[in-house]
Amino acid sequence: MFNIILFGPPGSGKGTQSEKLIEKYGLKHLSTGDILRSEIANQTPLGMEAKKIMDKGQLVPDEVVIGMISSALDKHKGVNGFLFDGFPRTTAQAEALDKLLSLNRTSIGVVLALQVPEEELIARLVNRAKTSGRSDDADENIQRKRLEVYHRDTVPVATHYRKQDKVVELKGVGAIEEIFGKLSTEIEKRMEMQRQMENE
Ligand code: AP5
Ligand code: MG
Repeated sequence: MFNIILFGPPGSGKGTQSEKLIEKYGLKHLSTGDILRSEIANQTPLGMEAKKIMDKGQLVPDEVVIGMISSALDKHKGVNGFLFDGFPRTTAQAEALDKLLSLNRTSIGVVLALQVPEEELIARLVNRAKTSGRSDDADENIQRKRLEVYHRDTVPVATHYRKQDKVVELKGVGAIEEIFGKLSTEIEKRMEMQRQMENE
């Protein structure tokens, strides 16, 4: 199994690149944002509570998203690997994920961190707001709040995985295909490293 975290601020291209990576490597895409938006669309009690928080650009409680990931891992046993997008977003989520994966005798293979300048992120979100229907894209104050929360709560997740020597930083600006190529190169390098370690 090879598991990837696609890491980066709102608008950095996690969703865009995830679609391409899951197809290329046969991974199961787990986006907590997408799961939450589907709960909202289905008007579940969880979705209704989450919507109030997401519309403010704040984070849904750790227990809620960890529970969602835990059941998704149970539901998709036997896949080639997972691609985590928008999760983990706090150190507590990262620690919980590490535990859940280790119970399944696996771990994170690589954390790919997309780096995009703040003004480019805002420009992308403003543009996406025209078509996404996402209420958290519609207002620039909410976009800025999401970025603030990212810097405060989510950047420490990279520090957590840097200690495990798992973080690869990549420029997330430029053509989508070019970024996809760079991500693929890093994934294949780490997959090969894992293969060699398993054979030792
Ligand atoms: P979530 O859905 O995870 O959103 P996000 O992290 O804010 O990121 P986005 O989905 O906005 O951006 P992305 O990086 O996927 O970029 P994309 O590919 O779309 O979270 C939403 C909310 O849910 C959170 O605020 C929180 O409330 C809650 N939540 C979710 N997970 C949680 C968790 N684990 N814990 C607690 N709460 C959680 O690209 C953006 C745009 O740019 C698109 O229009 C795209 O076409 C364009 N684009 C992509 N690549 C390029 C490129 N190379 N050049 C130009 N444009 C590009
Ligand atoms: Mg996304």
